[in-house]
Order: sequence, then C-alpha cells, then structure tokens
Amino acid sequence: MLSSVTPHGDLQETLGEARTLRTLNSFAVDLIAIPSVDDLFWYVAQNVVGRLKFVDCVIYQANESHTELVQVAALGEKNPFGRSIINPLKIPFGQGITGQVAQSREAIVIDDLLMDRNYISDTQFARSEICVPLFCGNRVVGVIDSEHPMPAAFGASELEVLITIAAMTSAKLELLAEADRSKQRYLDLVETHAQLSLETTNRKALETELFNARKLEAVGRLTGRFAHEFNNLLTAISGNLEFLEEAMTDQLSVDTLNSAQTAAQRGEKLIQAMLAFSQRSRLSPQIADLNTLVALACEQSNGRQNDAVQLNLAENPNLISVDPKFLDAVLLNLIRNARDAMPDGGEIQITTENIIHNFSNQQGLATALLPGHYVRLSINDSGVGIPLEGLQQIFDPFYTTKPVGAGIGLGLSMTLGFMQQSGGTVAVQSQVGQGSTFQLYFPTVSQGANDLLTINR
Ligand SMILES: Nc1ncnc2c1ncn2[C@@H]1O[C@H](COP(=O)(O)OP(=O)(O)OP(=O)(O)O)[C@@H](O)[C@H]1O
Ligand SMILES: [Mg+2]
Repeated sequence: MLSSVTPHGDLQETLGEARTLRTLNSFAVDLIAIPSVDDLFWYVAQNVVGRLKFVDCVIYQANESHTELVQVAALGEKNPFGRSIINPLKIPFGQGITGQVAQSREAIVIDDLLMDRNYISDTQFARSEICVPLFCGNRVVGVIDSEHPMPAAFGASELEVLITIAAMTSAKLELLAEADRSKQRYLDLVETHAQLSLETTNRKALETELFNARKLEAVGRLTGRFAHEFNNLLTAISGNLEFLEEAMTDQLSVDTLNSAQTAAQRGEKLIQAMLAFSQRSRLSPQIADLNTLVALACEQSNGRQNDAVQLNLAENPNLISVDPKFLDAVLLNLIRNARDAMPDGGEIQITTENIIHNFSNQQGLATALLPGHYVRLSINDSGVGIPLEGLQQIFDPFYTTKPVGAGIGLGLSMTLGFMQQSGGTVAVQSQVGQGSTFQLYFPTVSQGANDLLTINR
C-alpha cells in the first residue's frame, strides 16, 4: 500500500482519519459526473494510487459469461503506460488471488504472498496483496487489487477503505448499467415509433387509394346509369328534331331548329364522354399500330407555332387492339392539356415503346395493372405541372382548373375509363414548375396476331 510502510501499517496514521474521509467524500462526489464504465475504472485506479497512496492498483472486469477476469485499468509500477493497457492480463475465475476473490465474492488480505499457494507471481516482486470484489446487482463484475513489496503491508484500515471504494464503485456501476438500459429502452421506443409512423403512413396511403378507387367506382356507376338514360332521351329528342326539320319551311323556324340540334349534338358528346368514363362506351376495337395513330393525331392537332412536338417512336411497336376513333379523341385531349399547361410555349415529347410491366413498378398508375407485355405511349410537357391535391382529382369527372368555356373536366376521366375498357390504364407523374408526363398502357395483342399483321402491314 503506502510508499513507505511498516508492516500492518495503518492508513489513518499516514493520511490521517479526517483526510481519508475527505478523500472518500470527494471521491463519491466526483463519481456522479463519470460518464462511462471505462472512465470509472481508470478514475478509481488513479485515486487508489494517487490520493489514497497505495503503491499500485489493478482493476479487472469480469467477462460476459462471468468466467474470466480481464485487466481493464492499472496504475503504479506495473503499468508505466498511463491510461492504456498493452496486452491485458486475463485470469479465470478461481485462479490466483484475484480469481479466488471473484469466485468466493469475499475481500482478501494476504500478509505474505510467498506463503500463499494461490499466488501467481509476475514481473513485479510483491510480498503482500489486498483484493476486493465489485458487484453489479448480485453478480461479481470485477475486482480491485493492490500489491506491495513488503510483507503485511495491508491492515484493517486499508481493507475498510478499499471496501468503501469498491462499494461506491459498485453503486456507480449499477447506475451506469441502468443508464445503458434506459438508453436502450429509449432507442427501442424511437425505433418502434418510427415503425409505427411508417405503418400509419402506409395504411393512410392504402386507405386513400381504396377510397379513391371506391369513389371512382361509385361515381362511375352513377354517371353510367345517368348517361345511359339521358342518351335515350337525347336520341328521342334528336329523332323528333330531324322529323320536324322536314316539315319546316320558314327560315326562322329552321334557324331555331338548327340551334336545338346543335345543343342536342353537344349533349350527345357529353354523354359519350360520361359513358367512356364509366367504361360503358360501345367500342369498336381494331388491331392497330400505335405509331400510325399517334402520327395521325399529331397531324390533326397541328400545334401552335410556339410549341414543338417531338416524336420518339418505337422502331417496331407491338400491335395493339384499340378503338382508333376513341383513341384519337384521347390523344387530342392529352396534347391539348399539354399545350394549355405551357401558355408561353415549350416542348411536347411523345414516345412509344414496347415494355414489360411487373408488379414492382406501380408508380403513378391510376389503377392497378396486370403484369405483362404492353405498348406504352408517353406524352411529356415542360409546363406548369400539377400539385399533389390536383393529382388526386384529375381523373374525377368535371374536375377542371381551366376557365369557364375552356374545359369541362371530362378529358382525363374519359381517358381513364377508355384505357381500362381497353385492358390498360393511365399513369401520371408531375412536378409543379417542371412539367407532367401522362402514360397510356396498351396490352400487346398475342404474338400470333402480331405475326399475321406484320405480314399484311
Ligand atoms: N399536362 C397537364 N399539365 C398540367 N395540368 C394538367 C395537365 N393535364 C391535365 N391537367 C389538369 O387536369 C385537369 C383535368 O384535365 P381534363 O383533360 O380532364 O379536363 P380539362 O382539360 O380541364 O377539360 P376538357 O378536357 O373536358 O376540355 C385540367 O383542368 C388541369 O388542371
Ligand atoms: Mg382536357
């Protein structure tokens, strides 16, 4: 223990009882601020050697399985390297003085190591030793050990001091273990919370999707029924107007009749769009090459001077089965929408490509699409883009952001209904200020039909 010591020397004699108490007090206060187990062990070793004047101090920590002690801090002549241990000593529980203390859980004072059969000598000559266990909960988690070159260097007071130090260290070890457990509980909670938030977000997204699908289905059913009934009424009105036309002779009556017929025709167009949305159109599909239909629609749309339509058409597009007249109306609406989104002009890119669609790629699809071979048509503009709220409504019938008279909001709802009735769907991607891309997915007709029509093309 002490640097100059008489056998069974008394610490209180050298340090004075009051000073020892003060040292232990300040040791206890300092412990509060120590942040980690590693810091704690080094701090204890420093105090045992420094303020309490022991010749050396070695601290061992038990391994996870409590079978072996590993040297974790050492100060004094045995460790001239300061706060690092090169090649830490490992001692099995039960072996040597330290291993014996770890196993018996009892502090020990050896007056003469030469007489002790448990003593394992090392490079530094020692005659006496003191060793006390460290506890956490009910388990031995380490030992504090000190040796001295003189026999009988440790007495009752040294034992008392070292047991007090070990008790304080053990209490701090418990606190640090509890702090670790709390931190782990907190981290677990944070992770659980993150998982819950993700699940809630996913569930909300699924609920919104389901709600939108149900809404479209319900509106579709209602619109279809209404359009069907109204179509019958319009057919009767138009028929009667035609019948009247033959009986009219004076100009005023003819003009009035013409106005009524124009209104009836508009009504019919509207009804056609509504029937298309509710997937009740009478379609006349034909096997066709999408490139040809696209080129035709572009010719018709014959754009304004201040925009450019760029065509990137697939070299060998697979054939599709589609109603060409209807597709024409759909394409014209998409091109008109793209132009309306670029009031100051810009570029419209129209692309066709053969693709294989799979379940992992559902992004932006308005409705689910079965995996398979499709010909995809994309219309991309560099216009104003569509905000998120808009994206959730653009396929609703009568949703429009255009001024009165410029649009009634049936173009896209008609497009979606038509594409579904044709076995495909629509996808949209858009960013405000960057532009939008609308994509139409047409199922490829079977390879047999493809071969046949390639010969006749
Ligand atoms: N390319 C686009 N860029 C920005 N917004 C678009 C684009 N295409 C559609 N929209 C938005 O979607 C709305 C609905 O389009 P939709 O074609 O269904 O109807 P509309 O063009 O307003 O009227 P209609 O087509 O019946 O004449 C538009 O009013 C517009 O707000
Ligand atoms: Mg439109």
